[in-house]
Amino acid sequence: MRVAVIPGDGIGKEVTAEAVKVLKAVGVLSGLKLELTPLPWGADHYLATGVTMPADGYRMLRNDFDAILLGALGDPRIPDFRHARDILLGTRFELDLYVNFRPVKLLDDRLCPLQGRGRGDVNFVVIRENTEGVYVGVGGRFKAGTPDEIAVQEEINTFKGVDRIIRHAFEYAKAHGLTKVCMSDKSNAMAQGHALWQRVFATVSAEYPDIQATHMYIDALAMFLVKDPGQFQVIVTNNLFGDIITDIGGALQGGLGMAASGNIHPGRTSLFEPVHGSAPPLAGKNVANPMGAILSAALMLETLGRTSEARAMEAAAEAAVHGGQTTVDVGGTLGTKEVGDWIAARIGAGDRGGVTR
Ligand code: NAD
Ligand code: IPM
Ligand code: MN
Repeated sequence: MRVAVIPGDGIGKEVTAEAVKVLKAVGVLSGLKLELTPLPWGADHYLATGVTMPADGYRMLRNDFDAILLGALGDPRIPDFRHARDILLGTRFELDLYVNFRPVKLLDDRLCPLQGRGRGDVNFVVIRENTEGVYVGVGGRFKAGTPDEIAVQEEINTFKGVDRIIRHAFEYAKAHGLTKVCMSDKSNAMAQGHALWQRVFATVSAEYPDIQATHMYIDALAMFLVKDPGQFQVIVTNNLFGDIITDIGGALQGGLGMAASGNIHPGRTSLFEPVHGSAPPLAGKNVANPMGAILSAALMLETLGRTSEARAMEAAAEAAVHGGQTTVDVGGTLGTKEVGDWIAARIGAGDRGGVTR
Protein backbone atom coordinates (compact mmCIF):
# COMPACT_ATOMS: atom_id res chain seq x y z
CA MET A 1 0.00 0.00 0.00
CA ARG A 2 1.55 3.29 -1.13
CA VAL A 3 0.70 6.17 1.17
CA ALA A 4 1.69 9.81 0.66
CA VAL A 5 2.25 11.40 4.06
CA ILE A 6 1.87 15.18 4.30
CA PRO A 7 2.46 16.18 7.94
CA GLY A 8 1.93 19.87 7.09
CA ASP A 9 2.14 22.52 9.78
CA GLY A 10 2.02 22.98 13.55
CA ILE A 11 0.59 20.05 15.45
CA GLY A 12 -0.12 18.37 12.11
CA LYS A 13 3.51 17.25 12.12
CA GLU A 14 3.31 15.89 15.64
CA VAL A 15 0.05 13.97 15.31
CA THR A 16 1.02 12.54 11.91
CA ALA A 17 4.21 11.10 13.38
CA GLU A 18 2.07 9.17 15.87
CA ALA A 19 -0.37 7.97 13.22
CA VAL A 20 2.60 6.70 11.20
CA LYS A 21 4.04 4.98 14.28
CA VAL A 22 0.75 3.16 14.89
CA LEU A 23 0.36 2.28 11.20
CA LYS A 24 3.83 0.73 11.22
CA ALA A 25 2.96 -1.30 14.32
CA VAL A 26 -0.16 -2.68 12.69
CA GLY A 27 1.82 -3.34 9.50
CA VAL A 28 4.33 -5.45 11.43
CA LEU A 29 1.52 -7.36 13.11
CA SER A 30 -0.52 -8.14 10.02
CA GLY A 31 2.14 -8.34 7.32
CA LEU A 32 0.58 -5.38 5.51
CA LYS A 33 3.31 -3.82 3.38
CA LEU A 34 3.20 -0.06 3.82
CA GLU A 35 5.25 2.20 1.61
CA LEU A 36 5.08 5.57 3.35
CA THR A 37 6.37 8.52 1.33
CA PRO A 38 6.76 11.76 3.27
CA LEU A 39 6.04 14.94 1.31
CA PRO A 40 7.39 18.20 2.76
CA TRP A 41 4.56 20.44 1.55
CA GLY A 42 3.54 23.00 4.12
CA ALA A 43 4.34 26.48 5.44
CA ASP A 44 8.09 25.99 5.96
CA HIS A 45 8.49 24.54 2.47
CA TYR A 46 6.47 27.35 0.91
CA LEU A 47 8.35 30.08 2.76
CA ALA A 48 11.70 28.51 1.81
CA THR A 49 10.97 27.78 -1.87
CA GLY A 50 7.98 29.92 -2.88
CA VAL A 51 6.31 26.72 -4.07
CA THR A 52 3.16 25.47 -2.34
CA MET A 53 3.23 22.16 -4.19
CA PRO A 54 4.89 21.11 -7.45
CA ALA A 55 3.11 21.55 -10.78
CA ASP A 56 2.50 17.81 -11.14
CA GLY A 57 1.59 17.40 -7.44
CA TYR A 58 -2.07 16.50 -7.92
CA ARG A 59 -1.30 14.08 -10.73
CA MET A 60 1.36 12.46 -8.58
CA LEU A 61 -1.01 12.07 -5.63
CA ARG A 62 -3.72 10.63 -7.86
CA ASN A 63 -1.56 8.20 -9.81
CA ASP A 64 1.35 7.23 -7.60
CA PHE A 65 -0.41 6.57 -4.30
CA ASP A 66 -3.25 4.47 -2.93
CA ALA A 67 -4.04 7.04 -0.22
CA ILE A 68 -2.89 10.29 1.34
CA LEU A 69 -2.44 10.89 5.05
CA LEU A 70 -2.40 14.55 6.04
CA GLY A 71 -1.79 16.30 9.37
CA ALA A 72 -3.01 19.88 9.14
CA LEU A 73 -2.18 23.09 7.34
CA GLY A 74 -2.21 26.67 8.54
CA ASP A 75 0.52 28.97 9.75
CA PRO A 76 0.29 32.51 11.15
CA ARG A 77 3.16 33.56 8.84
CA ILE A 78 0.90 32.92 5.82
CA PRO A 79 -2.26 34.85 6.73
CA ASP A 80 -3.85 34.48 3.30
CA PHE A 81 -3.79 30.66 3.67
CA ARG A 82 -2.27 30.45 0.20
CA HIS A 83 -0.30 27.21 0.67
CA ALA A 84 -3.12 25.48 2.48
CA ARG A 85 -5.59 26.41 -0.23
CA ASP A 86 -3.38 24.70 -2.80
CA ILE A 87 -2.43 21.68 -0.74
CA LEU A 88 -5.65 20.88 1.12
CA LEU A 89 -8.53 22.49 -0.78
CA GLY A 90 -6.70 22.02 -4.10
CA THR A 91 -6.34 18.28 -3.50
CA ARG A 92 -10.01 18.00 -2.53
CA PHE A 93 -11.00 19.73 -5.78
CA GLU A 94 -8.43 18.27 -8.18
CA LEU A 95 -8.86 14.69 -7.01
CA ASP A 96 -12.62 15.27 -6.84
CA LEU A 97 -12.82 14.01 -3.25
CA TYR A 98 -16.49 14.83 -3.02
CA VAL A 99 -17.32 12.95 0.18
CA ASN A 100 -16.03 14.42 3.40
CA PHE A 101 -16.81 11.55 5.74
CA ARG A 102 -16.69 12.56 9.40
CA PRO A 103 -17.76 10.00 11.98
CA VAL A 104 -18.87 11.39 15.33
CA LYS A 105 -18.46 8.56 17.81
CA LEU A 106 -17.94 8.98 21.52
CA LEU A 107 -15.42 6.41 22.80
CA ASP A 108 -16.04 6.82 26.53
CA ASP A 109 -18.96 8.28 28.53
CA ARG A 110 -16.41 10.16 30.61
CA LEU A 111 -15.57 12.38 27.63
CA CYS A 112 -19.13 13.44 26.87
CA PRO A 113 -19.58 17.17 27.45
CA LEU A 114 -23.36 16.82 27.71
CA GLN A 115 -24.94 16.22 31.08
CA GLY A 116 -26.49 12.76 31.43
CA ARG A 117 -25.47 11.61 27.95
CA GLY A 118 -23.06 8.93 26.85
CA ARG A 119 -21.90 6.63 24.11
CA GLY A 120 -25.44 5.65 23.14
CA ASP A 121 -26.23 9.28 22.37
CA VAL A 122 -23.19 10.21 20.30
CA ASN A 123 -22.77 7.84 17.38
CA PHE A 124 -23.54 9.24 13.95
CA VAL A 125 -21.76 10.27 10.78
CA VAL A 126 -21.66 13.55 8.93
CA ILE A 127 -21.39 13.31 5.17
CA ARG A 128 -20.21 16.72 4.02
CA GLU A 129 -20.18 17.81 0.39
CA ASN A 130 -16.51 18.55 -0.25
CA THR A 131 -16.06 20.06 -3.73
CA GLU A 132 -18.60 22.89 -4.02
CA GLY A 133 -20.45 25.45 -1.91
CA VAL A 134 -18.66 28.60 -0.83
CA TYR A 135 -15.28 26.88 -1.00
CA VAL A 136 -14.82 27.12 -4.76
CA GLY A 137 -13.44 30.67 -4.72
CA VAL A 138 -15.95 32.09 -7.17
CA GLY A 139 -16.37 35.81 -6.58
CA GLY A 140 -14.23 38.86 -6.32
CA ARG A 141 -13.55 42.18 -4.71
CA PHE A 142 -14.32 45.54 -6.19
CA LYS A 143 -12.81 48.77 -4.86
CA ALA A 144 -10.87 46.67 -2.34
CA GLY A 145 -9.47 48.59 0.58
CA THR A 146 -11.81 51.55 0.16
CA PRO A 147 -15.00 52.46 2.03
CA ASP A 148 -16.89 51.39 -1.12
CA GLU A 149 -15.46 47.89 -1.13
CA ILE A 150 -17.71 45.13 -2.41
CA ALA A 151 -16.77 41.51 -1.66
CA VAL A 152 -18.61 38.70 -3.40
CA GLN A 153 -18.20 35.03 -2.47
CA GLU A 154 -20.61 32.88 -4.43
CA GLU A 155 -22.00 29.57 -3.26
CA ILE A 156 -21.98 26.96 -6.01
CA ASN A 157 -24.49 24.11 -5.92
CA THR A 158 -24.63 21.85 -8.95
CA PHE A 159 -27.16 19.10 -9.62
CA LYS A 160 -24.32 16.63 -10.10
CA GLY A 161 -22.66 17.64 -6.84
CA VAL A 162 -25.79 17.65 -4.71
CA ASP A 163 -27.18 14.47 -6.24
CA ARG A 164 -24.01 12.43 -5.71
CA ILE A 165 -23.52 13.45 -2.09
CA ILE A 166 -27.15 12.82 -1.14
CA ARG A 167 -27.06 9.45 -2.89
CA HIS A 168 -23.86 8.62 -1.06
CA ALA A 169 -25.57 9.35 2.27
CA PHE A 170 -28.45 6.97 1.49
CA GLU A 171 -26.10 4.30 0.16
CA TYR A 172 -23.97 4.61 3.29
CA ALA A 173 -27.06 4.22 5.48
CA LYS A 174 -28.23 1.20 3.51
CA ALA A 175 -24.83 -0.50 3.56
CA HIS A 176 -24.51 -0.02 7.31
CA GLY A 177 -28.04 -1.07 8.31
CA LEU A 178 -28.96 2.47 9.34
CA THR A 179 -32.50 3.73 9.04
CA LYS A 180 -32.33 7.52 9.16
CA VAL A 181 -30.83 10.23 6.97
CA CYS A 182 -31.16 13.89 7.90
CA MET A 183 -30.42 16.54 5.26
CA SER A 184 -29.63 20.00 6.49
CA ASP A 185 -29.66 23.25 4.53
CA LYS A 186 -30.79 26.84 4.87
CA SER A 187 -33.41 26.80 2.15
CA ASN A 188 -35.60 29.28 4.04
CA ALA A 189 -32.99 32.01 3.57
CA MET A 190 -31.00 30.69 0.61
CA ALA A 191 -33.98 30.06 -1.57
CA GLN A 192 -32.11 29.61 -4.85
CA GLY A 193 -29.17 27.36 -4.12
CA HIS A 194 -30.79 25.31 -1.41
CA ALA A 195 -33.98 24.72 -3.36
CA LEU A 196 -31.79 22.38 -5.36
CA TRP A 197 -30.92 20.44 -2.19
CA GLN A 198 -34.64 20.22 -1.37
CA ARG A 199 -35.55 18.95 -4.81
CA VAL A 200 -32.78 16.36 -5.01
CA PHE A 201 -33.39 15.15 -1.46
CA ALA A 202 -37.07 14.59 -2.24
CA THR A 203 -36.24 12.63 -5.40
CA VAL A 204 -33.43 10.51 -3.97
CA SER A 205 -35.11 9.77 -0.63
CA ALA A 206 -38.13 8.38 -2.52
CA GLU A 207 -35.81 5.69 -3.92
CA TYR A 208 -35.05 4.51 -0.36
CA PRO A 209 -38.47 3.82 1.20
CA ASP A 210 -36.93 1.88 4.10
CA ILE A 211 -34.87 4.83 5.22
CA GLN A 212 -36.52 7.63 7.13
CA ALA A 213 -35.61 10.91 5.46
CA THR A 214 -35.81 14.04 7.56
CA HIS A 215 -34.84 17.65 7.03
CA MET A 216 -33.60 20.28 9.45
CA TYR A 217 -32.52 23.82 8.87
CA ILE A 218 -28.89 24.16 9.86
CA ASP A 219 -29.59 26.41 12.84
CA ALA A 220 -32.03 23.90 14.34
CA LEU A 221 -29.59 21.07 13.61
CA ALA A 222 -26.84 22.89 15.51
CA MET A 223 -29.18 23.17 18.48
CA PHE A 224 -30.29 19.52 18.37
CA LEU A 225 -26.69 18.30 18.06
CA VAL A 226 -26.22 19.64 21.57
CA LYS A 227 -29.69 19.00 22.95
CA ASP A 228 -30.40 15.53 21.59
CA PRO A 229 -27.62 14.05 19.40
CA GLY A 230 -28.98 10.52 19.87
CA GLN A 231 -31.61 11.11 17.20
CA PHE A 232 -29.02 11.26 14.40
CA GLN A 233 -27.57 8.45 12.33
CA VAL A 234 -26.49 10.01 9.04
CA ILE A 235 -26.39 13.77 8.43
CA VAL A 236 -25.78 15.07 4.91
CA THR A 237 -25.09 18.72 4.27
CA ASN A 238 -23.11 21.22 2.25
CA ASN A 239 -19.44 22.09 2.49
CA LEU A 240 -19.58 25.02 4.89
CA PHE A 241 -22.30 23.70 7.18
CA GLY A 242 -20.51 20.35 7.33
CA ASP A 243 -17.31 22.08 8.36
CA ILE A 244 -19.01 23.92 11.19
CA ILE A 245 -21.09 21.09 12.61
CA THR A 246 -18.16 18.68 12.62
CA ASP A 247 -16.32 20.94 15.05
CA ILE A 248 -19.41 20.57 17.24
CA GLY A 249 -19.05 16.85 16.54
CA GLY A 250 -15.46 17.04 17.77
CA ALA A 251 -16.64 18.58 21.01
CA LEU A 252 -19.25 15.82 21.40
CA GLN A 253 -16.42 13.27 21.16
CA GLY A 254 -14.55 14.93 24.01
CA GLY A 255 -12.55 17.45 22.02
CA LEU A 256 -11.48 18.36 18.52
CA GLY A 257 -8.36 16.24 18.91
CA MET A 258 -10.51 13.09 18.91
CA ALA A 259 -12.21 13.61 15.53
CA ALA A 260 -11.22 11.73 12.35
CA SER A 261 -12.14 12.25 8.72
CA GLY A 262 -11.76 11.02 5.19
CA ASN A 263 -11.93 13.08 1.98
CA ILE A 264 -13.10 10.38 -0.35
CA HIS A 265 -13.86 9.70 -3.97
CA PRO A 266 -15.03 6.10 -3.81
CA GLY A 267 -12.59 3.85 -5.64
CA ARG A 268 -9.95 6.52 -6.14
CA THR A 269 -6.97 7.84 -4.19
CA SER A 270 -8.47 9.57 -1.16
CA LEU A 271 -7.14 11.77 1.63
CA PHE A 272 -7.42 11.13 5.36
CA GLU A 273 -6.83 13.73 8.07
CA PRO A 274 -7.95 14.68 11.55
CA VAL A 275 -10.75 17.24 11.68
CA HIS A 276 -8.67 19.72 13.66
CA GLY A 277 -6.20 22.26 12.33
CA SER A 278 -2.59 23.12 13.05
CA ALA A 279 -3.42 24.67 16.47
CA PRO A 280 -0.45 27.08 16.60
CA PRO A 281 -0.70 27.65 20.38
CA LEU A 282 -0.14 23.93 21.00
CA ALA A 283 2.55 23.33 18.38
CA GLY A 284 5.96 22.04 19.40
CA LYS A 285 4.91 21.24 22.96
CA ASN A 286 4.12 17.53 22.68
CA VAL A 287 0.62 18.20 24.02
CA ALA A 288 -1.59 17.72 20.94
CA ASN A 289 -3.98 14.80 21.03
CA PRO A 290 -2.98 12.37 18.25
CA MET A 291 -6.18 10.31 18.48
CA GLY A 292 -7.97 12.01 15.55
CA ALA A 293 -4.93 11.44 13.34
CA ILE A 294 -4.59 7.80 14.43
CA LEU A 295 -8.31 7.16 13.85
CA SER A 296 -8.03 8.86 10.44
CA ALA A 297 -5.26 6.41 9.53
CA ALA A 298 -7.56 3.58 10.65
CA LEU A 299 -10.30 5.00 8.44
CA MET A 300 -7.80 5.01 5.56
CA LEU A 301 -7.10 1.30 6.04
CA GLU A 302 -10.80 0.53 6.32
CA THR A 303 -11.54 2.46 3.12
CA LEU A 304 -8.83 0.48 1.34
CA GLY A 305 -10.43 -2.76 2.49
CA ARG A 306 -8.02 -3.58 5.33
CA THR A 307 -10.83 -3.87 7.86
CA SER A 308 -9.15 -6.07 10.44
CA GLU A 309 -6.10 -3.79 10.66
CA ALA A 310 -8.41 -0.78 10.97
CA ARG A 311 -10.31 -2.50 13.78
CA ALA A 312 -7.05 -3.30 15.58
CA MET A 313 -6.06 0.36 15.48
CA GLU A 314 -9.46 1.49 16.70
CA ALA A 315 -9.49 -1.10 19.47
CA ALA A 316 -6.07 0.02 20.71
CA ALA A 317 -7.09 3.71 20.54
CA GLU A 318 -10.24 2.94 22.45
CA ALA A 319 -8.28 0.98 25.06
CA ALA A 320 -6.05 4.03 25.54
CA VAL A 321 -9.09 6.20 26.16
CA HIS A 322 -10.67 3.72 28.58
CA GLY A 323 -7.39 3.34 30.44
CA GLY A 324 -6.77 7.09 30.69
CA GLN A 325 -3.64 6.78 28.52
CA THR A 326 -4.33 10.08 26.80
CA THR A 327 -3.24 13.68 26.44
CA VAL A 328 -4.45 16.28 28.92
CA ASP A 329 -7.27 17.67 26.74
CA VAL A 330 -9.13 14.41 27.31
CA GLY A 331 -8.21 13.94 30.93
CA GLY A 332 -4.89 12.10 30.78
CA THR A 333 -1.33 13.06 31.65
CA LEU A 334 0.61 11.77 28.62
CA GLY A 335 2.26 13.71 25.82
CA THR A 336 1.52 13.29 22.12
CA LYS A 337 4.42 10.88 21.58
CA GLU A 338 3.64 8.82 24.66
CA VAL A 339 0.05 8.26 23.52
CA GLY A 340 1.36 7.05 20.15
CA ASP A 341 3.89 4.81 21.92
CA TRP A 342 1.19 3.33 24.13
CA ILE A 343 -1.18 2.58 21.25
CA ALA A 344 1.61 1.15 19.08
CA ALA A 345 2.81 -1.02 21.97
CA ARG A 346 -0.70 -2.23 22.65
CA ILE A 347 -0.97 -3.35 19.04
CA GLY A 348 2.51 -4.88 19.16
CA ALA A 349 1.68 -6.72 22.37
CA GLY A 350 -0.66 -8.84 20.34
CA ASP A 351 -4.03 -7.47 21.30
CA ARG A 352 -4.85 -8.44 17.78
CA GLY A 353 -8.43 -7.17 17.87
CA GLY A 354 -9.28 -9.80 15.27
CA VAL A 355 -6.25 -9.19 13.07
CA THR A 356 -5.05 -12.31 11.34
CA ARG A 357 -1.88 -12.63 9.42
P1 NAD B 1 -7.61 24.23 15.32
O1 NAD B 1 -8.45 23.04 15.03
O2 NAD B 1 -6.22 24.20 14.86
O3 NAD B 1 -7.59 24.46 16.89
C1 NAD B 1 -8.64 25.01 17.67
C2 NAD B 1 -8.45 24.59 19.12
O4 NAD B 1 -8.88 23.25 19.28
C3 NAD B 1 -7.00 24.56 19.59
O5 NAD B 1 -6.54 25.80 20.05
C4 NAD B 1 -7.08 23.55 20.71
O6 NAD B 1 -7.62 24.12 21.87
C5 NAD B 1 -8.06 22.55 20.17
N1 NAD B 1 -7.39 21.45 19.45
C6 NAD B 1 -7.37 21.26 18.11
N2 NAD B 1 -6.70 20.15 17.82
C7 NAD B 1 -6.29 19.61 18.98
C8 NAD B 1 -5.55 18.44 19.32
N3 NAD B 1 -5.11 17.58 18.41
N4 NAD B 1 -5.31 18.21 20.63
C9 NAD B 1 -5.75 19.04 21.56
N5 NAD B 1 -6.46 20.15 21.31
C10 NAD B 1 -6.73 20.43 20.03
O7 NAD B 1 -8.39 25.49 14.73
P2 NAD B 1 -7.92 27.02 14.53
O8 NAD B 1 -7.15 27.47 15.72
O9 NAD B 1 -9.13 27.73 14.15
O10 NAD B 1 -6.96 26.98 13.27
C11 NAD B 1 -5.54 26.95 13.31
C12 NAD B 1 -5.02 26.85 11.88
O11 NAD B 1 -5.37 25.58 11.35
C13 NAD B 1 -5.62 27.87 10.92
O12 NAD B 1 -4.64 28.26 10.02
C14 NAD B 1 -6.73 27.11 10.23
O13 NAD B 1 -7.04 27.63 8.96
C15 NAD B 1 -6.07 25.75 10.10
N6 NAD B 1 -6.98 24.61 9.96
C16 NAD B 1 -6.55 23.60 9.17
C17 NAD B 1 -7.29 22.43 9.06
C18 NAD B 1 -6.78 21.35 8.17
O14 NAD B 1 -5.66 21.38 7.71
N7 NAD B 1 -7.56 20.32 7.90
C19 NAD B 1 -8.47 22.29 9.78
C20 NAD B 1 -8.88 23.34 10.60
C21 NAD B 1 -8.12 24.49 10.71
C1 IPM C 1 -11.54 21.42 7.81
C2 IPM C 1 -10.89 22.77 7.79
C3 IPM C 1 -10.82 23.35 6.39
C4 IPM C 1 -12.23 23.46 5.86
C5 IPM C 1 -10.09 24.71 6.33
C6 IPM C 1 -8.71 24.58 6.84
C7 IPM C 1 -10.13 25.31 4.97
O1 IPM C 1 -11.55 23.62 8.68
O2 IPM C 1 -11.09 20.53 7.06
O3 IPM C 1 -12.46 21.20 8.59
O4 IPM C 1 -12.94 24.43 6.15
O5 IPM C 1 -12.64 22.55 5.14
MN1 MN D 1 -13.00 22.61 9.93
